[in-house]
Amino acid sequence: MDKLVLVAYATRAGSTAEIAATIGDTLAARGFRVEVKPVKAKPALNGYTAVILGSAIRMGNWLPEMVKFIQAHQAALAAMPTALFTVHMLNTGEDADSRAAREAYTASVRALLPNAENVYFAGAMDFSRLSLLDRFISKMVKAVEADRRDWEAIRRWAETVSIS
Ligand SMILES: Cc1cc2nc3c(=O)[nH]c(=O)nc-3n(C[C@H](O)[C@H](O)[C@H](O)COP(=O)(O)O)c2cc1C
Repeated sequence: MDKLVLVAYATRAGSTAEIAATIGDTLAARGFRVEVKPVKAKPALNGYTAVILGSAIRMGNWLPEMVKFIQAHQAALAAMPTALFTVHMLNTGEDADSRAAREAYTASVRALLPNAENVYFAGAMDFSRLSLLDRFISKMVKAVEADRRDWEAIRRWAETVSIS
């Protein structure tokens, strides 16, 4: 297959990068050519047939470098198959309040790319990977260390995401 897919991610502590790598591996097993890149590398979009964009959540929002990337490339992204994944720790339940809260995390991004497929993955908190400020904030809000990433769910999504 000559389809080349970009998986671009924004991370602070690495868990989103590891999810992006697993999505990339799964797409490669589907026969796609795949490049996995940090959005901070400012990848150019020419040459890609589809794009998957993922960000960690910090204080209720996608990371600013990914939001800026989408704003800068909105027209090109809207014209090709695009999918979004969000990595977060709170509001992971199936109840209506949880769903509404996590959908609020992505409302502004989904408004920019209304046709993009959209998924949420539970992430990980590892204090040793956080900046001093993030560690301080995490302790203030009594966040707990945990790795809630469901690799099966991540692979299942990447096996079926529509990017053709
Ligand atoms: C300072 C800070 C703020 C966070 N804010 C939120 C939040 O508002 N909602 C949420 O669900 N998760 C929040 N998280 C959890 C992260 O989204 C989660 O740990 C994610 O896996 C981090 O991704 P990364 O390792 O790629 O940076 C926060 C984590 C930190 C350290």
